[in-house]
Amino acid sequence: MPTVAEIFETMEYGPAPESSVPAEQWLEARGREVLPFVDGGFVRPASGEFFDSVNPGNGKVIARVAQCGEAEVEAAVAAARRAQPGWWGLGGHGRARHLYALARQVQKNARLLAVLETLDNGKPIRETRDLDVPLVARHFYHHAGWAQLMATELPGMAPVGVCGQIIPWNFPLLMLAWKIAPALAMGNTVVLKPAELTSVSAMAFAELCRAAGLPPGVVNLVTGDGRTGERIVKHPGIDKIAFTGSTEVGRLIREATAGSGKKLSLELGGKSPFVVFDDADLDSAVEGVVDAIWFNQGQVCCAGSRLLVQEGVAERLYAKLRARMETLRVGDPRDKAIDIGAIIAPVQRTKIDQLVRQGVAEGGVLWQPSWECPADGCFYPPTLFTEVAPAATIAQEEIFGPVLVAMTFRTPEEAVELANNTRYGLAASVWTENLNLALDIAAKIKAGAVWVNCTNVFDAAAGFGGYRESGYGREGGKEGLWEYVRPAWQAAAKAATAAPAVAAIQVDNEAEPAATTGLPAIDRTAKMYIGGKQSRPDGEYSRPIFAPDGALLGEVGEGNRKDVRNAVEAARKAQPGWAKATAHNRAQVLYYLAENLSARTAELARRLERLQACAAPDAAAEVELAIERLFAAAAWADKYAGRVQAVPHRNFTFAVHEPIGTIGIACPDEAPLLALVSVIGPAIAMGNTVVVVPSERWPLAATDLYQVLDTSDVPGGVVNLVTGGRDELAKVLALHDDVDALWYFGGNAGSATVEKASTGNLKRVWAANGLARDWRDPVQGGGEEFLRQAIQVKNIWVPWGE
Ligand code: NAI
Repeated sequence: MPTVAEIFETMEYGPAPESSVPAEQWLEARGREVLPFVDGGFVRPASGEFFDSVNPGNGKVIARVAQCGEAEVEAAVAAARRAQPGWWGLGGHGRARHLYALARQVQKNARLLAVLETLDNGKPIRETRDLDVPLVARHFYHHAGWAQLMATELPGMAPVGVCGQIIPWNFPLLMLAWKIAPALAMGNTVVLKPAELTSVSAMAFAELCRAAGLPPGVVNLVTGDGRTGERIVKHPGIDKIAFTGSTEVGRLIREATAGSGKKLSLELGGKSPFVVFDDADLDSAVEGVVDAIWFNQGQVCCAGSRLLVQEGVAERLYAKLRARMETLRVGDPRDKAIDIGAIIAPVQRTKIDQLVRQGVAEGGVLWQPSWECPADGCFYPPTLFTEVAPAATIAQEEIFGPVLVAMTFRTPEEAVELANNTRYGLAASVWTENLNLALDIAAKIKAGAVWVNCTNVFDAAAGFGGYRESGYGREGGKEGLWEYVRPAWQAAAKAATAAPAVAAIQVDNEAEPAATTGLPAIDRTAKMYIGGKQSRPDGEYSRPIFAPDGALLGEVGEGNRKDVRNAVEAARKAQPGWAKATAHNRAQVLYYLAENLSARTAELARRLERLQACAAPDAAAEVELAIERLFAAAAWADKYAGRVQAVPHRNFTFAVHEPIGTIGIACPDEAPLLALVSVIGPAIAMGNTVVVVPSERWPLAATDLYQVLDTSDVPGGVVNLVTGGRDELAKVLALHDDVDALWYFGGNAGSATVEKASTGNLKRVWAANGLARDWRDPVQGGGEEFLRQAIQVKNIWVPWGE
């Protein structure tokens, strides 16, 4: 007679499938057709074209999906446009009630949604039932709250308008919720395209919109492949694109939207590190790895796909991992006792397989469990690679499958170096019992989410999104809302067909030439300000600067590519130290800068008066305002710090504001001193270093600042000024991979150029696209927008409480 313990050890799992009958009936009742949802109703595609949607768990066709073309995209955009004013006009409370109703509908239909998702995507029912669908409901509840609070929590903000949203296949319903909930909460309407491989649950959601009484046109869904996505991206009736998917398509979208004035958020790939120190609880870490890389078959943008282990415990951890992998179960996604479901499609399995072969060819040691995957359906076994070189393809490329790549390190410094040895920066997970170490590492890893002793934790209250080539923008949390609003003055300016009236200091060419007495001496030394020093322009050319009356006022250096490169190098070198300075220190420097500027008020005002041939009081006012802006930046330095997110987990989730790094800034011609100071202040207050191209027309206002910077304890390299042709220099900055973000205050053509040129390292671009600002206005010239553009949010999750 075997003992109970022996029976327990030898017992086989029986099948425990979730019934798919209700979902199959649901599909049957709709003729197994997935149709676009436009203006509150389902329509047939004008082309009459459909393609199959296959259940990856068994290879059977479950539905046919409409391939939408021009007619459907046009109709959807038109419906969204019509609906938008009314939706915004409902007010925060009205929209909150609708979002609440959607959340309730999701909950009431949770089981159907979970089964449909599993049939369509191949992910285990355990995940759709316990994670995807509950998180969808949570997202709508949470954002019902933001709709309710918008007026008080985001004062002065207006919706962007109509949002085009394009999502991938790995979390079809959850990505839909991440896109739709914040957009609707902020008063926008949407045209969303689900991924071609997984469109079924989107149609179910459309029905819930109807059931919840959502006004027609607020949510529109168009199905189809990349061609449909392209139409959405290029449609002039769309004000913003939100995309989640591959980095490759993200780049295409950045290019396609360049110069269009469309807002853009990109959530792209990742190669996230999972760092295990030698004092970690290894058994917990093993369970962490299971969630990190075998959750959703590893088809997760933030999957912990690189295991970095401290050398002393590597073999022990690998042994535990192999033992755990041996017990993982791959099979029918409907089975409630399955750990790993099916890969989305054969094409993805082939891609995984090819990368695995390459990993072996490049010297990695492959390990897979002894058991076989089921033969029918699209499956791939959990896979572990050890002894992988950091530069190996499998250590650098996103595999998007259940493949873990392990490497070892000796010291915490080496761990950070390895962790950051990637072009991505989506997430990271750190395992150690030493809190000091965990938080030290969390601060040093460049990623939008850092999980301490946990992994793949998500919530609507905490933003999610990338650093570097993982994209920009956040989804979730208050930080995610900024993607779906714009300052009301900008919305108004955009709506007005005529160019907005700008009250900035204007040039009056008819004005009397200012008296020449008492003016600063003509500056004939053409110089840049780089690394805290005045340096000659590389090309040894200078450009003359004339007053509006034609008088030669001076010359400035004609900056070129080399000058920009030198400035970027100086800025990059200075950045870590400047970011490490306390916020208090940075504030002190900014106050000091203001003080020194103030000491030269009369001289600077005279310069501006002469430069722009403006009235003396206007010039003096500009200097005064510049001083005030520096005070404001100093004030914010130690106040714009982030928040603690109220997530429903046993976690303290800190949304920390981190500097972006080195920011390239191309200044406008208006208010040459004020605008310059208005951009430098917030950028450096938040710990960035800057390379600034001052006003092309009136750069002397900037060269006067050199001495002020020299005497104000601004460390060398924090502020660098390169004078010359703005658009030419801005393009060099946009192309430079060591520039992390670019602010461009100029016209449409220049905006298009820099946005297009930014795709190399996918730097964040804030381009004016011809929208003029009144730099004297406290919101337009000094609002929170500047601080927001100067930071990126990192959410750090630390276990907390009982
Ligand atoms: P994809 O980036 O091609 O597709 C994502 C979405 O973009 C889909 O809805 C697709 O129809 C749409 N799309 C494709 N081309 C477009 C275009 N030119 N303009 C506008 N929309 C377009 O990703 P795909 O082909 O599904 O997967 C390829 C690889 O991308 C995967 O193997 C994986 O490595 C990665 N991926 C990463 C994701 C992430 O969340 N980071 C999600 C999905 C895929």
